[in-house]
Amino acid sequence: MKPLLIACVASVIPFAALADHVLGGADIANGEAVYAETCASCHGARLEGQPDWQSPGPDGVMPAPPHDETGHTWHHDSQLLFDYTKFGGQAALEARGVKGFTSGMPAFEEVLSDAEIRDVLGFIRSTWPDRVQEVQDMRSHQSGG
Ligand code: HEC
Repeated sequence: MKPLLIACVASVIPFAALADHVLGGADIANGEAVYAETCASCHGARLEGQPDWQSPGPDGVMPAPPHDETGHTWHHDSQLLFDYTKFGGQAALEARGVKGFTSGMPAFEEVLSDAEIRDVLGFIRSTWPDRVQEVQDMRSHQSGG
């Protein structure tokens, strides 16, 4: 029995590592509830974003973009989306070498667990058409995140 057990464990490990980066395994229903409570006030109840989201506001800060397929959330790999939500836009960009950009996206690390962040991003992903989900998955695999 022992070799069989080892083979099973080995086949589970790569999947678990992948699940950290790919949003497909998230609890979508929980993510939808978290979204309504925590994100909808800025990103819109229907993920439509704030009005005129492509132009900076009077303070020079960009408004919240839509999370549906008309926005650019799906242009980013899952690790960036996760970091943006956990650490806030400013810190996520600074960690990638982008300095001097004031982001209006707050950090949620004090508010949401990592699992809740994955759930809410998984919910957002679930609203995209299949084609868009595939492109975003590919981007996440290519960047390793
Ligand atoms: C106080 C308003 C506010 C709330 C609440 C908020 N966001 Fe944001 N979010 C923003 C703004 C403003 C931006 C654009 C920031 C930028 O340009 O860096 C943004 C950008 C993002 C991005 C990057 C998207 C992209 O296309 O580049 C992600 C991902 C994101 N938010 C996820 C979330 C999630 C998930 C929640 C709920 C847990 C949430 N946001 C709640 C204001 C908010």
